[in-house]
Amino acid sequence: MVTGLFDLDGRVAVVIGAAAGGLGERAARALTAHGATVALADLPGAGVGLAETAAACGGTTTAYAVDVTSEVSVRELAEQVLARHGRVDAVVNAAGVMLRKEVAETTVEEFERIVRVNLTGTWVVGREFGPRMAEAGWGRVINLTTVYAERVGPVPESAYYASKAGVVNVTRSLAAELGRSGVTVNALAPAVFYPTAMTAPLAESPDRLSWFAERTMLGRLGDPDTDFGGPVVFLASPASSYVTGQVLYVDGGWSAW
Ligand SMILES: NC(=O)c1ccc[n+]([C@@H]2O[C@H](COP(=O)([O-])OP(=O)(O)OC[C@H]3O[C@@H](n4cnc5c(N)ncnc54)[C@H](O)[C@@H]3O)[C@@H](O)[C@H]2O)c1
Repeated sequence: MVTGLFDLDGRVAVVIGAAAGGLGERAARALTAHGATVALADLPGAGVGLAETAAACGGTTTAYAVDVTSEVSVRELAEQVLARHGRVDAVVNAAGVMLRKEVAETTVEEFERIVRVNLTGTWVVGREFGPRMAEAGWGRVINLTTVYAERVGPVPESAYYASKAGVVNVTRSLAAELGRSGVTVNALAPAVFYPTAMTAPLAESPDRLSWFAERTMLGRLGDPDTDFGGPVVFLASPASSYVTGQVLYVDGGWSAW
């Protein structure tokens, strides 16, 4: 009964924000390694980055352009993947943007741009993919928040913190609405993993990176392939069937002190 719980053979997963170099790429690599066919999606123009991810995955992938700030674009992505593969079993939304700026210097337009991608985008992805999975009676929606969703960090990023706090309750809301249709909705909350485009400024100073590492209970930064890829596979697979509406902190114990 407990064998094959992490098996994704025959499943189709969509990873948004999948261009090479980010956590989306690592999610795609972990999912293909466990047998899933993965639809890679990122902003129009991210083609080279998606090709690099496809090459790194090794398994079966297809590539799509999407902008999560456009509900039409997200709907088209869902329809294209369904038309191409006939099913969608999981969606990982790793699209995200950040703004490092003090509140007094941040415009409303800048604040709303971050919220539009991180929060509204997450809601739209859930709205477009969730009901389609519900029709099939099985599905996994995996959102990306952060350890800074329920607290704030040392760097001024008010729009980012606010947007990621919102992702937590969008996750719970969708989980409540979709649960009886067999669709689970959860969020991963990473700490700092490694210098992706988003975290590169934090990693510029070795002192700052070691500060992050020391703040974890494990005393190290996360490995994006194993420490992040493992939880992605868990939440995408039958192994997490009774887990929904949750935030899984993937942070080496950071948030548990
Ligand atoms: N890297 C970390 O340590 C870390 C820590 C905590 C949370 N996160 C979260 O994980 C997610 C991925 O972060 P990352 O570090 O890989 O960042 P990243 O910048 O490397 O990747 C983000 C991806 O999202 C894409 N994207 C941006 N706007 C988009 C849009 N409108 N539509 C579609 N795609 C869009 C980008 O093109 C990029 O490929 C983000 O939500 C981030 O907040 C990352």
